[in-house]
Amino acid sequence: MYSEKVMDHFMNPRNVGEIENADGVGEVGNAKCGDIMKMYLKIDNGVIVDAKFKTFGCGAAVATSSMATEMIKGKTVEEALKITNKAVAEALDGLPPVKMHCSVLAEEAIKSAIADYMKNRGISLDNDGGDCNACSRRCEDVHEQFDEDSA
Ligand code: FES
Repeated sequence: MYSEKVMDHFMNPRNVGEIENADGVGEVGNAKCGDIMKMYLKIDNGVIVDAKFKTFGCGAAVATSSMATEMIKGKTVEEALKITNKAVAEALDGLPPVKMHCSVLAEEAIKSAIADYMKNRGISLDNDGGDCNACSRRCEDVHEQFDEDSA
């Protein structure tokens, strides 16, 4: 049912843990199953130099978070915002359709942590100032504001 890569990242997840003094921290929940994930990012000069996560989630959530953190390390914030849950699932050689929603948790956690980083830098987000649950509109806003900020 699961690819070898999924099993590998589930059995030996990369980047589990916390980052002290993280530049961005995001926490999201999966409405479908109630699982939650926390993501920590260390960002230097707009580049994600470290990423760690903690999750109370299923194996597919662990595997996708593990792969997602590997994929965003070394990328700019802008590039990381473009990584979709589908891209993460593809990097794992696919997920069973019923587990695709689990990969959304990883994508949303990254976006939420980036939104937090933006907020810490004093860039106002075009939302109510509450937790960014990383719906696509908010993420686009974050993206746009980052572009403006770095222009
Ligand atoms: Fe909850 Fe997979 S069942 S994240």
